[in-house]
Amino acid sequence: MSNFNQETVLSVHHWTDNLFSFTTTRDSSFRFRNGEFTMIGLKVGEKPLLRAYSVASANYEENLEFFSIKVADGPLTSRLQHLKEGDQIIVSRKATGTLVIDNLTDGRNLYLIGTGTGLAPFLSVIKDPETYERFEKVVLLHGCRHVRELAYGELITEKLPQDEMIGEMVSNQLIYYPTVTRDPFRNRGRITDLITSGKLFEDISLPALDAAKDRVMMCGSPALLVDTKKLLEDRGFVEGNHGEPADFVVEKAFAER
Ligand code: A2P
Repeated sequence: MSNFNQETVLSVHHWTDNLFSFTTTRDSSFRFRNGEFTMIGLKVGEKPLLRAYSVASANYEENLEFFSIKVADGPLTSRLQHLKEGDQIIVSRKATGTLVIDNLTDGRNLYLIGTGTGLAPFLSVIKDPETYERFEKVVLLHGCRHVRELAYGELITEKLPQDEMIGEMVSNQLIYYPTVTRDPFRNRGRITDLITSGKLFEDISLPALDAAKDRVMMCGSPALLVDTKKLLEDRGFVEGNHGEPADFVVEKAFAER
């Protein structure tokens, strides 16, 4: 049996010139944990051209969703950005990744730190009822350069609170904190700076990060990961992994370069 399924594109949404999302059918045998990624791509000639993508939909949803950048000369995204309804893509039968709540020890509040398309795995995590059973508050931080790049804001603030299954948990426990660095906006600045200055905690009325109580997942550019990891380790946080749950987990956003 092949390691891949062929799926059909159901919808495509372009957020900006550089960002788009699409949904596809989902083979009923494809299983994943919320926060994981899989390999997806296109057949180019005889060869499959594949890249890692976080699954942005939750594991109980019927369809799959992906959130992607567009890189003009990127081998895959230069092609993927032209996807239309009805097109076929290849999706691996396997999913993996570190951004799953099982890789975190119990704690009080969960911080999800994502920049750019690094938001994708957290869209899955914030739809998981177990996330709200494990943690009191779930703080979703999305950092972008520009306001127009704050994709999925409406889903998070309008649709999810109305959801039949998780709406109440989302309304009571999810705190969404979008921030931009290069436009005027209500929240401004790098996530790292907002944590260090304490501005974030003032704004969301929660105590400052505490390794004894808080847990963190992060996904974004390599520079963000290095700086955030240092910030956490300086505060006594320990990195977790498969089989070794701890205080925080890290995954780089899968950007094509
Ligand atoms: P900035 O505009 O100050 O570079 P990018 O599009 O480059 O991946 O960046 C996405 C967001 O992440 C931007 O707001 C950017 O801020 C921010 N960012 C980039 N590098 C870091 C870092 N090392 N620490 C914290 N935030 C970062």
